[in-house]
Amino acid sequence: MSQVTAALGLGPDQIESVLTAASLAPSVHNTQPWRFLVRRDRIELHADPARRLAATDPEDRELRLSCGAALFNLRLALELQGVRPLVSMMPGRDAPGALAVVRRGGSIRINAENRALLDAVPHRRTNRRPFLEAAVDPRQRHALVRAAELERSWLHVITTPQDRAQIQRLVRQAHEIQLGDEAVQAELAAFTGHRPGAADGVPPASAGVRPEMQDEWAFRDFQGPERHPGKDYESDPLVVVLCSFYDGPLGEMQAGQAMQRILLTATTRGLSASFLSQPVEVRQVRDQLRRSLGGMLVPQTVLRLGFSTPVPATPRRPVAELLVESDERAPC
Ligand SMILES: Cc1cc2nc3c(=O)[nH]c(=O)nc-3n(C[C@H](O)[C@H](O)[C@H](O)COP(=O)(O)O)c2cc1C
Repeated sequence: MSQVTAALGLGPDQIESVLTAASLAPSVHNTQPWRFLVRRDRIELHADPARRLAATDPEDRELRLSCGAALFNLRLALELQGVRPLVSMMPGRDAPGALAVVRRGGSIRINAENRALLDAVPHRRTNRRPFLEAAVDPRQRHALVRAAELERSWLHVITTPQDRAQIQRLVRQAHEIQLGDEAVQAELAAFTGHRPGAADGVPPASAGVRPEMQDEWAFRDFQGPERHPGKDYESDPLVVVLCSFYDGPLGEMQAGQAMQRILLTATTRGLSASFLSQPVEVRQVRDQLRRSLGGMLVPQTVLRLGFSTPVPATPRRPVAELLVESDERAPC
């Protein structure tokens, strides 16, 4: 198994803690589709092609969102070590195959806001449980919108009953298309449930309660426990659509970083979040969603936010398994 080496003026232990923070990012089905090439002057972030979801995510869009989230954690963790991260995304010949390359751009003292976000990294979780009937107030909403803007992305907040009904319909429509797609269902099953010793996937304790047909929002079924009578979902969660300004890998990497800044900002404010990705995953529904947002913004993911009870962490692969040797770089 590979060993972590020194880089960017930091020792192996510091680099290991930076990569551990990166690995705690959310990823679609907890696939953890990232790898890192560590060199003395840089850390390259690569996609792991063995962890693609060819049916659910044929264009690798969510793979790049997940890698963008890992990059955001990595940036924060480097700042804690005093390194100002100089990031070039989709670097091309400079780092063949990499989604991003991070170099030392001088020294920095992490600011209080980023320190709080980094402290939230091990506590952030996808929470699929029903939320409490408590509204997210406008100040919290503003903080989430600002988090997206800081990462060059856009957060569309659903506010009107018409928009809410429209997005519910799109979630349901995409969900039903995916229920009829055997390959999508096989990928879901492969990453769901109790898989002894597994360091990836969604275990039963993180699955939330079992979705039911009459639920307003069509949640993905990770085979959680049956619901106790009366334990229904909240009536009015905050639902937001995270959008990029561009189509394609660069916009997706930006949106991934924005997604993670939003999720960590939510965590620092005691908010829980889960995903409703189906309408962005199914191409024809994504086009409808895009048109409903005016046609310019590119929807990347849909989040549901509110207040809930704590949920356990999902597993992660050890850092040693995430290291890539220079001669096995993968194409982006
Ligand atoms: C791009 C992306 C899309 C996701 N879509 C869904 C989804 O539609 N439904 C869901 O329940 N979880 C979704 N998730 C959450 C992942 O399953 C979760 O991040 C992963 O299991 C790791 O768990 P954690 O977030 O608690 O660390 C998504 C995550 C990412 C990054």
